[in-house]
Amino acid sequence: MDVKLRKLAKADLEELEKVFTQTIQSEFSEYSQNTRNYFTDKKYKNRMFRSPIKLGAYLQDQLVGYILADKPVGGVMFIWWIAVLPEHKRKGIGTKLIKNVKRIGLELGTHNIQLQADERNLIFYKAVGFEILGFDKKSFFGADSYVMKKLIQEPKEETWFK
Ligand SMILES: CC(C)(COP(=O)(O)OP(=O)(O)OC[C@H]1O[C@@H](n2cnc3c(N)ncnc32)[C@H](O)[C@@H]1OP(=O)(O)O)[C@@H](O)C(=O)NCCC(=O)NCCS
Repeated sequence: MDVKLRKLAKADLEELEKVFTQTIQSEFSEYSQNTRNYFTDKKYKNRMFRSPIKLGAYLQDQLVGYILADKPVGGVMFIWWIAVLPEHKRKGIGTKLIKNVKRIGLELGTHNIQLQADERNLIFYKAVGFEILGFDKKSFFGADSYVMKKLIQEPKEETWFK
């Protein structure tokens, strides 16, 4: 099936809200139920949905995956969330989301993409070219996580003064 990726606009946020809630609640067992409820509550969700980089993956016009990231600071971009609906995993959608965020990152002068990952996702992140920087015990929201990084080009000083 043909997966199409595009930037998410205001009109897409209602659908994103549904997919975000579903994936956060079912896929992120490293966080307590209370924390997952906090993530899917309006306050946190609205803050996340203001992330400047928001991409959706669509299969036949249905949103099946997303990636939320910040614009780079000093050439370093941080990915907050990436998820694909469980029934659509292992179809290359996560890889496409990372590739597209990399493309946007390059346009913005990013040289280094970073994120924090649970152990279960190390195979995926290594498959898409990330390396492990370290193990962050009791990290964001108390979860143990791996700090991951992917260099995508040489640092471009001129881009971070804009
Ligand atoms: C992590 C995630 C986004 C990956 O998306 P995906 O669309 O399933 O990934 P892809 O199909 O592009 O996988 C690319 C490669 O990564 C590896 N991989 C991905 N998931 C894997 C798994 N569960 N077990 C082993 N290898 C895996 C494989 O090498 C795969 O290639 P292959 O299918 O040809 O063997 C998805 O599993 C997900 O949404 N998980 C739940 C939410 C989550 O944990 N997000 C990450 C937060 S840190």
